[in-house]
Amino acid sequence: MKFGFFDDERREYVINTPETPWPWINYLGNEDFFSLVSNTAGGYSFYKDAKFRRLTRYRYNNVPMDNGGRYFYINEGGTVWSPGWKPVKTPLDNYECRHGLSYTKITGEKDGLEAEVLLFVPLKSWCEVQKMKLTNKSGQKRSFKLFSFQEWCLWNAEDDQNNLQRNLNTGEVEIDGSTLYHKTEYKERRNHYAFYHVNEPVQGFDTDRESFVGLYNEFSGPRAVLEGKPGNSVAHGWSPIASHYFEIELEPGETKEMVFLLGYIENPEDEKWEAKNVINKKPAKAAISRFDSVEKVNAAFDDLRKYWDNLLDGFVLDSGDEKLDRMVNIWNQYQCMVTFNMSRSASFFEVGIGRGMGFRDSNQDLIGFVHQIPERAKERIIDIASTQFEDGGAYHQYQPLTKRGNDAIGGNFNDDPLWLILSTAEYIKETGDYGILDEMVPFDNDMSVAKSHFEHLKLSFYHVVNNLGPHGLPLIGRADWNDCLNLNCFSNNPNESFQTTENKSGGTAESIMIAGLFVVYGKEYSKLCRQIGKSEEANDADKHVDSMVEAIKKHGWDGEWYLRAYDFYGKKVGGNENEEGKIFIESQGWCSMAEVGKEEGMVEKALDSVKEKLDSKYGIVLNNPAFTKYVIEYGEISTYPAGYKENAGIFCHNNPWIMIGETNIGRGERAWEYYKKICPAYLEDISDLHRTEPYVYAQMVAGKDAAKPGEAKNSWLTGTAAWNYYAITRYILGIRPDYDGLVVDPCIPAYWKGFSVKRRLRGTTFNIKVQNTNAVSKGVARMTVDGKEIKGNVVSVFDGKEHDVQVEMG
Ligand code: BGC
Ligand code: NOJ
Repeated sequence: MKFGFFDDERREYVINTPETPWPWINYLGNEDFFSLVSNTAGGYSFYKDAKFRRLTRYRYNNVPMDNGGRYFYINEGGTVWSPGWKPVKTPLDNYECRHGLSYTKITGEKDGLEAEVLLFVPLKSWCEVQKMKLTNKSGQKRSFKLFSFQEWCLWNAEDDQNNLQRNLNTGEVEIDGSTLYHKTEYKERRNHYAFYHVNEPVQGFDTDRESFVGLYNEFSGPRAVLEGKPGNSVAHGWSPIASHYFEIELEPGETKEMVFLLGYIENPEDEKWEAKNVINKKPAKAAISRFDSVEKVNAAFDDLRKYWDNLLDGFVLDSGDEKLDRMVNIWNQYQCMVTFNMSRSASFFEVGIGRGMGFRDSNQDLIGFVHQIPERAKERIIDIASTQFEDGGAYHQYQPLTKRGNDAIGGNFNDDPLWLILSTAEYIKETGDYGILDEMVPFDNDMSVAKSHFEHLKLSFYHVVNNLGPHGLPLIGRADWNDCLNLNCFSNNPNESFQTTENKSGGTAESIMIAGLFVVYGKEYSKLCRQIGKSEEANDADKHVDSMVEAIKKHGWDGEWYLRAYDFYGKKVGGNENEEGKIFIESQGWCSMAEVGKEEGMVEKALDSVKEKLDSKYGIVLNNPAFTKYVIEYGEISTYPAGYKENAGIFCHNNPWIMIGETNIGRGERAWEYYKKICPAYLEDISDLHRTEPYVYAQMVAGKDAAKPGEAKNSWLTGTAAWNYYAITRYILGIRPDYDGLVVDPCIPAYWKGFSVKRRLRGTTFNIKVQNTNAVSKGVARMTVDGKEIKGNVVSVFDGKEHDVQVEMG
């Protein structure tokens, strides 16, 4: 069952019923100011950091679901409705929500009166525009009342929910005509405030929630709206809000447009006030003046469209499969930008107060994004590396506002450092900018102990080498990529978190996933060393990589697949001798990408075991059989019910590792089959089962052991976005930047006739046409550039021009 459709021309997903199986959301903003918006206008806004600078309040896990947002209420002769259906939920005659790239347009119609709300954050601004267009489509004159509504959050989203004994006293506002200011805590340690403005004189307002909503009313029926009369209230403590009030008349056919603006302002310390206790509004007025007319707003919207035209022009696929094209050209790239911006902080599953920028997460997110805005990717890499420790270890997470490592979220995940090599290598391959390696980068944000970025990579590499266990395999630490494989944790206390609690000392648990990861990025490190003339460094690295390969072959192979780990006691994890969790996906992915034992047939065997034991109708599950009892020496993984999350869920992040492994041995059909299984556009028809948005990946789909296999959770903020983009573009389509040029090395189903890709790299555009007349899966027989045949399959002209690249597979 579908709940809308793709409008590829406009790059929108059009939702045609408000009652989607779960709120289907979108993100506004690309730089500093961000908003989450659901298809019924729910969600919230923040500046940079969803925890520390939350502008508007949102209640997660609420009943009803998705309560709170930028709401408009219309009261016409006692009929009350909202353009986005919620919160009033009066049935509408027409409803439509168009989620586009960094904007959302919601339209509702009741009895011939139409209200369309366009929401977006203009480029280079700190505000959300809400353009309201009211149209009288009926034959009669209409007269009605319009109320806007936002509820302020008292900045720190965590404290806002918890510290009521204080918070109910602190709220402060100022009212200045059509601008309602929120200035809680401004007079003490804050130098920032927010405002909600409308570009017309108001006929009334409210700034106090109780006056507007009523103490025992709900958002669906606020007192002021039901009575058709604002309270003109001034908030003192309790819960400040912002609501504008209008009485509007529209002749038949008449249209009225208004611009609402939700903004954030910072003032320099010595320019905070214009009079005693009166905030300096100058910068707010300046911000407002940029968007105070429909014309200005339309122009800003146009700029945003052009911005996306340009971003998406760097990789354009024409495959003849509209679902694939729309994922590769639009939605997958879009999701990569969102994960790059948000990391794991704020979604409808991440509450924006815990998991900020993940060290491993952000490094991985980058690989789906680096071709769009390489300068920002570089800045991010340096930010991440700046939180690294001097021994190469890492904070697991840092806060976007302060860019400081955050201990409260746990640490000692021994895979973390290696991902820095991945992101840096991808950045250099994309840009050719080796200069990043010479940047001086602090440790734990302390510039006095800075070293070059290259030294950070070296420390990342040696962090593994310096932390090997009894089998010569990497020690896992708290966990590796799989946060829930807590082999040293031994927790029997429900009041502590697996992610932060102290680990048992003396543990020698080892990870074969990190071993595979180390072989892949160890080789990458050595290749990079050679690129910059550090051949001795490279030789040393090669030795460590070679011995890791040997260690995996000797101690990491179970006969039919790669083992997953050795536990605290040195017992095998993920081997045939285990009763549950006999096989895990992560080590199959990384060791096959690393091609460990390829000649001996290990890679092929391992991938066949994946097919046989882990594949299912909706994707590849993480492990099998699922754990059905708590195993104290394994930790959180065995806490989840079978089929969910890290316990045999389809953890979509790791499926592309298997796809890439398959392309390494030339099995294009199988890689493609796996790709399609979890790719959202191919799941649109089962949206009732899948539940999350059909335009973005979810982190997890319930696995074959779950109660409802195929049901997804945790959409949007997941490494799944970047990895699937990486797998399809770099390995299945095979268009892959390398240090010396653009590699063309497709691995596709033999029945594909071919495809074309326009790829921009280092300012040069390549129009690549791949033809598969020989019906093979892999192999390039012939390649011409601008009509001239070249040797091999790497194009390396970077002259800022356009080039025609013809590729014949065979
Ligand atoms: C989740 C993981 C997450 C971890 C850290 C676990 O409960 O299943 O996906 O990475 O918590 O917050
Ligand atoms: C989600 C986390 O964000 C990511 O870092 C981790 O690798 C996966 N969960 C798997 O546990």
